[in-house]
Amino acid sequence: QQVEAFDLVIFGGTGDLSVRKLLPAMFHRFVDGQIDKHSRIIGVARSEHSDDSFRKLVHEAIAKATKDAASKDINAFLKMIHYRALDGGKDEGWEEFAQFMGQEADHVRVFYLSTSPSIFSDLCKRLGDHKLNEGKARVVLEKPIGTDLSSANKINDDVAKVFQESQTYRIDHYLGKETVQNLLALRFGNALFEPLWNAEHIEHVQITVAETVGVGHRAGYYDGSGAMRDMIQNHILQLLCMVAMEPPASLAPDAVRDEKLKVLRSLKPITATEAPHTTVRGQYRAGASEGGSVPGYQDELGRPSNTETFVAIKAEIGNWRWAGVPFYLRTGKRLPERLSEIVVTFKAVPHSIFGADAGALAQNRLVLRLQPDEGVKLWLTIKNPGPGGLKLRHVPLDMSFLEAFGIGQLPDAYERLILDVVRGNPTLFMRRDEVEAAWNWADPILDAWAASGDAPKLYTAGTWGPSASVALIERDGHTWNEDN
Ligand code: BG6
Repeated sequence: QQVEAFDLVIFGGTGDLSVRKLLPAMFHRFVDGQIDKHSRIIGVARSEHSDDSFRKLVHEAIAKATKDAASKDINAFLKMIHYRALDGGKDEGWEEFAQFMGQEADHVRVFYLSTSPSIFSDLCKRLGDHKLNEGKARVVLEKPIGTDLSSANKINDDVAKVFQESQTYRIDHYLGKETVQNLLALRFGNALFEPLWNAEHIEHVQITVAETVGVGHRAGYYDGSGAMRDMIQNHILQLLCMVAMEPPASLAPDAVRDEKLKVLRSLKPITATEAPHTTVRGQYRAGASEGGSVPGYQDELGRPSNTETFVAIKAEIGNWRWAGVPFYLRTGKRLPERLSEIVVTFKAVPHSIFGADAGALAQNRLVLRLQPDEGVKLWLTIKNPGPGGLKLRHVPLDMSFLEAFGIGQLPDAYERLILDVVRGNPTLFMRRDEVEAAWNWADPILDAWAASGDAPKLYTAGTWGPSASVALIERDGHTWNEDN
């Protein structure tokens, strides 16, 4: 269904995220007929571009990102594209920009801040000074919001001087991924899982977001961030919330966000004494990845660094539902596969009626694959078919969404989320208190790491991180999931 005509202003319009994700996402929605051609997409950055030269850049970006770039739609799409050069730190050009935007109060305007968070405050102030925050204006804040609780508070306070909370959309694109939303359907649309979804029946949960890519040209940003701030504080904690939250009363934005917040506030703090046992930091050194040899993180950066490119954490949620259930979280760059998954392992049956000859009984496992090949796999124990007596076998009920529904490609998370902003639906966006609760848990871990002065443990690019990550989970008698 088409959404109402809108203006989308992308600050950081020539940047990596805009070019690789946001602009191709808008093109896909346009091709699907969801975007009214009276909408405008306006790239803003400090560099000089004409509308035409920016359109050329957009065209090239779309050609790289999609096979449809040669379609008849591309010219109509490019007509919607504009460019304005602006600097959040200078007055120059803002008056003209405000005129260009116009003052129709009932027109949806989305200001997407795809820039370093250090200039969010300046940009919001200028938008406010020129009354661009009025009517149906919305602001989208890319993660990470700050680098700790106090810097996040400062940014949120500055944004709040100009935009109300209801106009503020803090994006976490993992919430736009198909499987993450499917988790809502799976948990709350089936009678099967919910009665078992607790400490009585679930032994442990694993959340892995593994990437094969290195940090490459993003090293400038990444070195000040590291895997904890880049992935755990936001994407992985949001996944954990979707797995662990209580059933919300409805899908109303605050019903869902209230439940997620309760999970974040129930996370057990990890103290400086516990951190060496329940957390692992790693950094990749040179190795083999993506079919060739690749440099180590510090070689890419060109200087020594203690920033982590891998984190594994044993987290716990201190509430009735989850008491004693470990949530093992793991993410890293330059791992052997691009793989994101949530694995829920159920407890063993209480008593085996099968003799030793039947083979070992395995525990049920539910694997939610976020990427690649989005889908759901439920591992069951069955009898090995045919003669040979009662021998047990562990097999998956395996559903790939693409295969099951015969669709070519699932929409990218940004496609759904940007249109949700236009529709004014913040269900899949983080509320301020969620961001704060997430930092509140992450800060003491970051502080403990900084205070210890220990360097991250090196791992060879193309391997599953430092061996300490394996030890972290094996100490508890479990192993990282390997059946993909
Ligand atoms: C971004 C991180 O938020 O998510 C990147 O900043 C990371 O470092 C990316 O590569 C992963 O997203 P996806 O959708 O490719 O799994």
